[in-house]
Amino acid sequence: MSTEDPKADKLPTPGEVIQSKRNNYEVVKMMGKGGFGAVYQVKRQKGDDLLAMKCETCDVKKAVLSMDCKVLRGALIIQSPHFCAVQDRGKVEGRFRFLIMKLVGKNLWDLRYERENYYYSMNTALKAAEQTLMSIEDLHRIGYLHRDIKPGNFAIGRPETKENHIIFMLDFGLSRKYIGDNVNKDIRMPRSSAPFRGTTRYASINCLSNKDQSRKDDIEAWLYMVVEWTTGLLPWRKLKSADKEEVLKWKELVRNGEDLEEFFEGCPKREFTTIMQYVDSLQYQSIPDYNYVYYCLQHAMKAHNCGPHDPLDWDPENKYRGPTKTDRDKRMDAKLDAKLKDDPEINEK
Ligand SMILES: Nc1ncnc2c1ncn2[C@@H]1O[C@H](COP(=O)(O)OP(=O)(O)OP(=O)(O)O)[C@@H](O)[C@H]1O
Ligand SMILES: [Mg+2]
Repeated sequence: MSTEDPKADKLPTPGEVIQSKRNNYEVVKMMGKGGFGAVYQVKRQKGDDLLAMKCETCDVKKAVLSMDCKVLRGALIIQSPHFCAVQDRGKVEGRFRFLIMKLVGKNLWDLRYERENYYYSMNTALKAAEQTLMSIEDLHRIGYLHRDIKPGNFAIGRPETKENHIIFMLDFGLSRKYIGDNVNKDIRMPRSSAPFRGTTRYASINCLSNKDQSRKDDIEAWLYMVVEWTTGLLPWRKLKSADKEEVLKWKELVRNGEDLEEFFEGCPKREFTTIMQYVDSLQYQSIPDYNYVYYCLQHAMKAHNCGPHDPLDWDPENKYRGPTKTDRDKRMDAKLDAKLKDDPEINEK
């Protein structure tokens, strides 16, 4: 047990059996550790299936696991393929609260490091860009902002379940409801200033300036992530998370001239510039035109000869069969939106 991390003696250890009202789960191994707790692979004792367990120690200053629960529940209602289904939840008294959900595979940060030169092929970067944008659009549709869009918060499904062409959105610990409680479901008024939430490297200019975030900020962060997938590097990569001012300056610089040329070097320049300018033109209240951004991505795919079935870098032997924009358009259903509006848990802030 580590003496450096006071959380460590509260969190579960491999081999331990965790009980909920419904089931027992045996801890297999740790999958990731964050600021609030950790994520484990567990085995359900009835049925033997593998699942993920996200834990948060009981003494955390700001409990966030309930936010993960609310968001994942909303995503289930709209039947989005990009979110892990929640299976169970519970508490080990005096130690931690937990959430049991679908187990997915590697995250998109780790996968990039498995690549030579640390970047994805154009085909993979653009297909991943499309899927992650669809997940952002779905999250916005259920009334939430993510506020920590970054590669470590997206993962592919497990090859064992043949879901490795689907990208899942993870980690709603920093999410916030942007829709108000009134009958019209208006957007909440922006706060005059807001504490920093997110990850410096991918944070939007607004966020780094301590302004309240909105839908456009998730998309701006998404664009930095996509540039990194395509080129392997962001100009401010060597700066630390505390260097917010400098990262902010860099991000302002890439808005024009030579810096812009260099920033998009190796990317579909025309399309990415159009997306950036479009996102910059949005206001706090704006409803983003996601279709316009998909259109730019599809244009970039054509211009770079990326076929609809070209394989992904992590599964070169098989044709691409991930969820597409056409599937998404078919799934859009007003009935689901109505169901969502009636759900009391998702609608509370
Ligand atoms: N359902 C899951 N299945 C498999 N792995 C997962 C799952 N959820 C999370 N992980 C892994 O655990 C890591 C951390 O998860 P998550 O981002 O939800 O936790 P966190 O405590 O908020 O972490 P951080 O502070 O690092 O963002 C993810 O990057 C991912 O690799
Ligand atoms: Mg995370």
